[in-house]
Amino acid sequence: MTGVVPTPPCAEGTGLPWDVPVDDGVAAIAAARARHGDTFAVHSGPDHYLFTFSPAGVESFYALTEEAASKGVADYLMLRRKLPDDIFAGRRTLPNTLFRRDDVAGYLANLDHALEQSITELGPAGSVDVFDLARRLGHRMGLASWAGPGSADGAAFERLARAFDALDGSDAFVHPDRMAAVAATEKRAERAALDEVSEIVSTAVRRFDDGDDDSQGLFGRIVAAWDDAPDRLQGIAFDVALIHIASMSNLAAAVGWAFVDLLEHPAALERVCLGDNDFTQRCALESTRLAQRSIMTRTVLATVDFDDGAVSYQVPPGWNIATLLPLLNTSAAPGLEQWDPDRWTRHRLTEPNALPSPMLVTAFGHGRHSCPAQPFSLAAMTAATSRLLREYRMTPRWTSHPLPVPAQIGGVARAAGPCPVDYLR
Ligand code: HEM
Repeated sequence: MTGVVPTPPCAEGTGLPWDVPVDDGVAAIAAARARHGDTFAVHSGPDHYLFTFSPAGVESFYALTEEAASKGVADYLMLRRKLPDDIFAGRRTLPNTLFRRDDVAGYLANLDHALEQSITELGPAGSVDVFDLARRLGHRMGLASWAGPGSADGAAFERLARAFDALDGSDAFVHPDRMAAVAATEKRAERAALDEVSEIVSTAVRRFDDGDDDSQGLFGRIVAAWDDAPDRLQGIAFDVALIHIASMSNLAAAVGWAFVDLLEHPAALERVCLGDNDFTQRCALESTRLAQRSIMTRTVLATVDFDDGAVSYQVPPGWNIATLLPLLNTSAAPGLEQWDPDRWTRHRLTEPNALPSPMLVTAFGHGRHSCPAQPFSLAAMTAATSRLLREYRMTPRWTSHPLPVPAQIGGVARAAGPCPVDYLR
């Protein structure tokens, strides 16, 4: 393959955890940056990456156009390590069309209902892992919002939650070290899980066809998109599956960290319990910033001129331009390693000028690909933490701040070990 011109420094011997055994994917790139500076190449397996961390480089990264350097293609190349190929072909309702204003109101109403169901399940006292709690909540809210009648209740819900845990696309970046095994089994478990999802969603479609369409706005849109198609049931089921998988990437993990941080900061917890929603949102944003472990990647489709502030590189098609949030979010300026909700004013940094570029820090991305689900996600995190922390006194049982899964390189961190809390109404 043609190379980058001029030739950037090359991190020989550095690979990414899909291709070579790496204990800590983020630490490996940090070590390469310490050796080679803010812009360098990594050749990993069949892939070529130009990593950039300088202020101008990160700004150039966010300015890349989809036509020249594609996030869609980069996401596909990442997710196909885990997901069966069939799920990508021919989708008619995509995750980025989910967040019209009236949609969000429906999702938040479903979240309220899911929170009540969680409280019933938890009962008056017990012990629960905060990340498990958040994940089940995310499944329930999501499936009620887009998987059709009956999918968020009873046996259908339990089967769907199990199937989606097996089909979780975020395994591609949370457990990249497991992707060789997924390939070796030809994605047998994932295919079985997708069949299971299809069967249950098809039952929901039949109920919908029979007039059971209570508060199923998005599901109705998905169904309508497949009117008259010969493979209608599969088309609807795969649309639902890809949407739910997209929703699982970050939100539940971010809710988990919001609990962790609030439980570790009693004064903030008290404000949350007193109903200060603006503050609770800023706490949620701050927890998400600190938990970010995202690799941001764009796959070059047509040669791009990429300026990192010191050098202008020509990057040819087939290369990936990348940056890594955990190497910026907590170190781009002094003090960023602390959890401090007041660094945010609404969704923006209170003092952006303290940074060489405001783009060096983010929870939901910058520019044209920034997360369309940000307002919804922050509202959902606020509702989940404030409702459950008002209902229960929670006592964390971890003894030091939980650590992320070391191999993870992408998305919001998952906790490496259990994070149980004892709770009492
Ligand atoms: C706390 C929760 C979430 C966080 C921290 C988060 C974070 C992000 C970030 C950082 C990006 C930009 C990635 C890049 O530029 O390469 C992004 C994009 C995106 N997110 Fe989220 N996200 C969250 C929740 C969700 C949810 C619930 C959905 C629903 C399916 C979602 C759907 C998307 C989509 C479709 C994009 C791509 C937008 C585009 O390419 O134009 N996100 N998200």
